[in-house]
Amino acid sequence: MTANTRTDAAGIDLDDVGTNPTSNPSFTDLIASRLSRRHLFGLGVGTAGTALLQACGGGGGAGAGFPILPPVPAPPPPPPAPAPAASLKLGFDAVAKSLADVVAVPAGYTASVLYRLGDPIASGVPAYVNNGTDAANTFDRRAGDHHDGMTFFGVNASGKWDAANPSRGLLVMNHEAITSVFLHPTGQTITGSGAAAVRTVSDEVLREFYVHGVSVIEVNRAGVSWSYKQDSSFNRRVHTLTEMNFSGPAAKTDYLKTKYSTDGSKTRGTVNNCANGTTPWGTYLTCEENWAGYFRRITGTDNAKRSTKELASFARYGVAGNGRELWATFTPDTADNLYGRWNTEVIGATATDDFRNGSNTYGWVVEIDPFTTASTPRKRTALGRFGHEGACLGPVVVGKPLVWYMGDDSQNEYLYKFVSTRNWDAADIGGGIAAGDKYMDDGKLYVAKFKADGTGDWLELKLGVNGITASNPAYAFADAADVLVNTRLAADVAGATKMDRPEWTAVNPKNGEVYLTLTNNSARAVTGTDAANPRSYNDPKGGVAQKGNPNGHIIRFADTGGDPAAVTFKWDVYMFGARSTASADVNLSALGADNDFSSPDGMWFSQAAPGLLWIETDDGKYTDVTNCMLLGALPGKVGDGAAKTITNVDGGTTATQATFVGKAPGTDGLRRFLVGPVDCEITGIAESGDGRALFVNIQHPGENTAKADINDPGKFLSHWPDGDKTRPRSATVVITKNDGGLIGL
Ligand code: FEO
Ligand code: CA
Ligand code: CA
Ligand code: CA
Repeated sequence: MTANTRTDAAGIDLDDVGTNPTSNPSFTDLIASRLSRRHLFGLGVGTAGTALLQACGGGGGAGAGFPILPPVPAPPPPPPAPAPAASLKLGFDAVAKSLADVVAVPAGYTASVLYRLGDPIASGVPAYVNNGTDAANTFDRRAGDHHDGMTFFGVNASGKWDAANPSRGLLVMNHEAITSVFLHPTGQTITGSGAAAVRTVSDEVLREFYVHGVSVIEVNRAGVSWSYKQDSSFNRRVHTLTEMNFSGPAAKTDYLKTKYSTDGSKTRGTVNNCANGTTPWGTYLTCEENWAGYFRRITGTDNAKRSTKELASFARYGVAGNGRELWATFTPDTADNLYGRWNTEVIGATATDDFRNGSNTYGWVVEIDPFTTASTPRKRTALGRFGHEGACLGPVVVGKPLVWYMGDDSQNEYLYKFVSTRNWDAADIGGGIAAGDKYMDDGKLYVAKFKADGTGDWLELKLGVNGITASNPAYAFADAADVLVNTRLAADVAGATKMDRPEWTAVNPKNGEVYLTLTNNSARAVTGTDAANPRSYNDPKGGVAQKGNPNGHIIRFADTGGDPAAVTFKWDVYMFGARSTASADVNLSALGADNDFSSPDGMWFSQAAPGLLWIETDDGKYTDVTNCMLLGALPGKVGDGAAKTITNVDGGTTATQATFVGKAPGTDGLRRFLVGPVDCEITGIAESGDGRALFVNIQHPGENTAKADINDPGKFLSHWPDGDKTRPRSATVVITKNDGGLIGL
C-alpha cells in the first residue's frame, strides 16, 4: 500500500512521516513540509473506464519466485506460447506517460476489470450500488477498498494448492485503507473538531471496519477471459473484526494483554495491510504497515499514566493523536468494545480492564491459510513489530533455512530479514498454519547496515547482543518479547542504516539477489546522505519545491556466498527514479521518455519468466506529467555498474556523496508497460500459473476528491473504472496478451 498521498486534516501525507529520532547514520531533520496532491491537480478527467471484459486470474506468487512444486496436471491448456528464451527480451512497445483517466497498456494487450470495491463475494449479496447507501452489514461479503499486495494461488480439481495452475486459483489481496469520501452518502459524518471530533453514524464506522483487511476470492478463466466466482466456498473476507491468534516469542506476554485477551494470546483484526508475502507451504502473509495512526491516544492525559519505557515506545512508533478515522470516538461503545478498543489509553485499573496495550497487538506479519476458510489467522511475532511493508520469501532450498526480507516503510526506517531455525522440508507443502508454527515462530531477526564500501552487515536483534540489553540508556530491554514488540528501538541501538522509506522487497529467482524499493524521503538533507541513500536535490512541481529524495531509488544486494542466512552482503543501487529531463546528477540511471518514473513501491519478479521484474509506482512528485505506472525490467546483477560520486545541490548548499550505481537500463532493460487512471497508485501484482495473465491493482483512483464535492460528480477527480460520473473504485485488473503469450515478453 501505500496511501502515499492520503493526507490528514493538516495536509500531512499519512505515509510520509517519520518517527526515528536516533542519530544513526544519515540522521536528518524529521520535520519537512509535505504536499498534498489535492491542490496540485488541475487535471481534466479523460474518457472514463474503457470497456473491459470481466476477468480474473492471478498468479504466481505462491512460490515467491522459486520452482518448488512439480508440475501438476492442468485444466485445458491455453494457446501455446513460447517458453521464455534463455536471454529474455522485453516484447512490448512502451506506453506513453499520461494524465488520462484510463488504464493504458501496450498494443496487443487487453486490460479487464476483475474485482472492484464493493463487488459481492457471496450468494445473495446484491450488486454494489456505489452511492454510499449499500448496507453496512453486507460489507463483510464484499470486496474491500484500496486493493494492495496480492498473490495468486493456483487450485487443482481437489481444491488443493497447485502453483502452476493456468486457469483456476485463489486471488488473495490486501485492502490497505479507505477513500472515505466515496464510502458513505456524503463522506464521513463527524461532529466537532480537533480532539473533540466524533463519529456519529455507526453504519459508516462498520463499513470502514469491514473494507479494511484481506480478500480471498476464487478466480477462473473461461476462454480468454477471467472472472471471480461470487458463490465460491473459498471466498472469504478477513477484516478488522476477525479474531487472530498470536504465536512466537511475544505471544502470551504482558505486552499483548488486553481486556479482549487477558492472557495475551489473541486480538481482533488486521489493518493497513500493505504489501504481502508467501510461504513455501502455500499460505499468504499480510503485513500491517501504517497501523499506528488508527489508534487514539491523547498524550495530554495519557502520558502521565505511562512508564518511561512505554513513552519511548509510543514515540518511536508514532502512537499519538485522535486516530485517523476517529473509530474510538463513536458512543455508546458495545459490550465487546468494538469502538473503544481503538483507544489505546489507560482508562481502567489494569491492562486487562482496557486496551492500553491495544496498539501492541498491531504491527505484525499475519499468516492466513486461504485454503482452509475456517482457519484463524496468526500474527507471527518472531518477525518483529514495525511498519511492515511486505515479507518476500527468499530462495527455497530443501535442507536449508527459509528467509523473508522485510521493509519498514517510514522515513529513515530500516530493512530487516528473518531466518528460520528449522530447515525446509518439502513434506510440509500444504501444511497450513501448522507449518507456519514450525518455520515462523523460531528464528533470527536481523536489521541491515549498508556500509560505504559497498558491503553490508546483518545485525542480529536479540537480547544481549548488539547493545540490546537492560543497560541500554535509550531503552532498557527486559526480555525477548520486548525486543520483538519494540523492534525499531532494538534496531536503533544495533546501528542500522536509515533508509529512504523501505517499501517492497523482491528476490530474483535467477540468482537470489534481493531488490528493495526506497520510495522517496522528503527529509533526506544534502548534508545527510550516505552511500546507500545518496541523493538530495530539488525536483520542483508546478513551481513548488520538492526536496530530499523525491523520486526514490531501488537498491539491491547479494547475501554473501548466495546464502540467505549469511550475515554480510554486497550492494549497489540498481536504479534511481527521476524525470528524464533532470540533471545528470539526479537522473543517474539515464532514464528516457519511455521509462522514466518516480517513487517506486510495488515490485515483483515473474515466476513464469525468471529474470523479468515488475516495478510499480506510488507517486505524488511526477504527477504533473503522468499518473502512476507499471514498468517491466530485465535487471542485471549487483556490481554491473560502477562507483560514482554524486554532487548534491540544494540552493546554496553543495555536497558530494560516493555510491555505487548499477548499469543504466536503457529501453532494453526498462520500459513502461501500464499507466493508471487519475490520482491512483499502482500496487499489488501476481500472475496465473502459466504467466499468461497478469493481475494488477489500481488503488484509490480519485482519492483526493474533496468531501465538499461529493454531491457534484463532475468534480470527482476520477470516474474509473465505471465511468459516466460514477464514484471511482479501487479494483483489480487482469492483463492478457491478445496472442495468448507470456506477459511482457
Ligand atoms: Fe503502504 Fe509503504 O506503502
Ligand atoms: Ca506500498
Ligand atoms: Ca508507498
Ligand atoms: Ca496509496
